[in-house]
Amino acid sequence: MVTRALDLVLLGPPGAGKGTQAKRLAAAFDLLHISTGDMLREEAAKRSSLGQEANGYMNRGELVPDELVAKMLSKLLHSRTAALGCVYDGYPRTTAQEALLEDLLAELNRRVDVALYIGVRDAEILARITGRRSCPSCGAVYHLATQPPKVDGSCDACSATLVQREDDGEDVVRQRLKVYRKHTAPLLDLYRSRGILREVDGAADPDAVFGRLREAMGSVAK
Ligand code: AP5
Repeated sequence: MVTRALDLVLLGPPGAGKGTQAKRLAAAFDLLHISTGDMLREEAAKRSSLGQEANGYMNRGELVPDELVAKMLSKLLHSRTAALGCVYDGYPRTTAQEALLEDLLAELNRRVDVALYIGVRDAEILARITGRRSCPSCGAVYHLATQPPKVDGSCDACSATLVQREDDGEDVVRQRLKVYRKHTAPLLDLYRSRGILREVDGAADPDAVFGRLREAMGSVAK
């Protein structure tokens, strides 16, 4: 039996819970989780030329130039791990990125099947992001108040010391929100006009939000 690939875009402001939900959706539907933010942070940690170039933009809360992100995405989409489909977390972020994603998927006879938007108010976003702690080793994400690790400051999965992302200070978060509204929010209308946008209220615990996302997907995922 041939299973059709499923390609799912997750949209939402910084800190809406895209990464948290992308991991769950990828596990539930056997999809590749593509987080351009995680990929760029890995490049920065390796001090590759791409990472060094991207780092300055990220720490200022600006978007990394489209062509730098495009190279990483194209390589991944043509890999075997992407054959069953992908959850795109943090991509596309501009109309140019959206057009590129459609082109890359068309080469594979695929298209974006559904765009899921997680809506969260600004005050909640600030609380979520400033309380976030991440594992630099395995990528697990925690929150000091709502999802704390079992041992203070230490990753439950691999015991590495948790860190705060360099772009998670309040001023940079406000800049990321501005950039989101200017460049990424217009994608909502674009996906809405294609009839594939599903909007979900993200103001609930992660299990409840996951349930809402699955429900919103309806018959898109069998
Ligand atoms: P990226 O890493 O993609 O950041 P983002 O989109 O701003 O999103 P976040 O990772 O901050 O948040 P999230 O929505 O994933 O929330 P999370 O699940 O972690 O990008 C960073 C930077 O990289 C960009 O600013 C840009 O410079 C660059 N970049 C990336 N992609 C790019 C692209 N395509 N083009 C150009 N540049 C690009 O949750 C947040 C916190 O809340 C966590 O602590 C979590 O535990 C908690 N939480 C999650 N869900 C809930 C819940 N339901 N209730 C309570 N707490 C919750």
